[in-house]
Amino acid sequence: MSLTIDRETVAKFDVPGPRYTSYPTAPVWSTDVNAAVYAEKLAAFGRSNKTLSLYIHIPFCQSLCTYCGCNVVIRKQDERFGDEYIEYLFREMELVHRAIGNRPRVRQLHWGGGTPTFLNESQIERLYKGTLKYFDVDPAGEIAIEIDPRTIDKSKVRKLRALGFNRVSMGVQDFSEDVQKEVNRWQPYPIVKEFNDWCRELKFASVNFDLIYGLPRQTPESFSATVEKVVALAPERVALYSFAYVPWLKRHQRKIDESLLPSADAKLDIFLRARERFLESGYQAIAMDHFALADDDLAKAFEAGTLYRNFMGYTVKPADEYIGLGVTSIGFLENTYAQNEKALPAYYAALDAGRLPVERGKVLTDDDRARRWAINSLMCRFRIDKRDFQKEFHADFDRYFQDEQAHIRRCVQDGLLRVENGSLEVCGPGKLFVRNVCMGFDHYLQQKDAPARFSRTV
Ligand SMILES: C[S@@+](CC[C@H](N)C(=O)[O-])C[C@H]1O[C@@H](n2cnc3c(N)ncnc32)[C@H](O)[C@@H]1O
Ligand code: SF4
Repeated sequence: MSLTIDRETVAKFDVPGPRYTSYPTAPVWSTDVNAAVYAEKLAAFGRSNKTLSLYIHIPFCQSLCTYCGCNVVIRKQDERFGDEYIEYLFREMELVHRAIGNRPRVRQLHWGGGTPTFLNESQIERLYKGTLKYFDVDPAGEIAIEIDPRTIDKSKVRKLRALGFNRVSMGVQDFSEDVQKEVNRWQPYPIVKEFNDWCRELKFASVNFDLIYGLPRQTPESFSATVEKVVALAPERVALYSFAYVPWLKRHQRKIDESLLPSADAKLDIFLRARERFLESGYQAIAMDHFALADDDLAKAFEAGTLYRNFMGYTVKPADEYIGLGVTSIGFLENTYAQNEKALPAYYAALDAGRLPVERGKVLTDDDRARRWAINSLMCRFRIDKRDFQKEFHADFDRYFQDEQAHIRRCVQDGLLRVENGSLEVCGPGKLFVRNVCMGFDHYLQQKDAPARFSRTV
């Protein structure tokens, strides 16, 4: 369905806000969650029958894209960096494995970065096979890797497929040469096309393209040309991220000339045109910023209300618990977020000392759990079913969220939400501004001393 959003709506809702990949959001986590707390949670998980998702972070990239908001370590191509890092990953796996006390079944494995394909073929094989020593990875599960098409050749793709990877996600961002030059990411169209062709030939179950709107020198026209090229390559999934411009957190983003960034209106126009084109081309809009071909599992799950979201993005195969390995990685298990050390030297030092490299996190309170459920439901299903809340928390939704009723009414007046039949439905501009709807359920944002600054919601 096409969306029309006017300037006034943009001006009203384009405010700084969390992306809600977690709730409570990272700025309210603390060092109360340390290695000892995390070890207890791992042990409790080991005694349960719960299913597991595993994330492995490879932080290295050969060059820095100036827009980058990920946790990266820039290194020239030298296999010593990867060799050293993999050894430390194995040490971490050993500690995690000891705390769990068994070799858990993994139904979803994801390598992210940085750039996992910074590793060479033998390193990739060593890391994959070494992981199997500690984790029982289900070959029929989702086994995914993030790929920078500038760091791959056919032999490496073959290796990944042979090892068992069945999904790839590739950073495309924008095909315009002007934009690429401006963000220090030279990536000609033919290399993306070639990589996409290899993935088809090797029968990966799904290919995802990441795009970013709101980059410097982007215009609605230039980005439309990018979208045409994407549609022609027909990836099953597309993530169309809003550029998170946070120069106070990511100092290298200061290299971006602010005057070259599209205005909020232009940025919205870029998004809406792209959205329209994807819908015309057989894609379905999935939650806030994803698109999937109608016969892809993600589209079916969104329709059926069985889509889930974690730090790896949207998924159709949710696991109960989530373990992150590597520098900066985040885990969520036994209702506790735990994040590893963010700097490589600190991560290595913890492991040298024989300690789980956990730096901070948050043990969820009952109230956190209820709000996390509501926010996830809005983000993944664009709706809240009050009966489901009742079933999950044995509480009446409207009574529990009494203080939020004014926010809900405002969202209804603003056309972001519809209340019907025991449910809240995200509608109209709410589909773009769902983060704003969620913000009203965020207990910590309502506090006077709310910490942190976030990127804008458009
Ligand atoms: C770890 S990167 C993907 C893999 C690989 N490093 C690459 O760039 O091709 C994950 C994705 O995050 C997105 N991303 C990075 N920085 C961002 C930012 N500041 N705002 C929005 N999306 C961003 C990009 O679309 C990128 O492809
Ligand atoms: S966008 Fe990808 S390649 Fe570029 S710096 Fe970030 S993680 Fe590295």
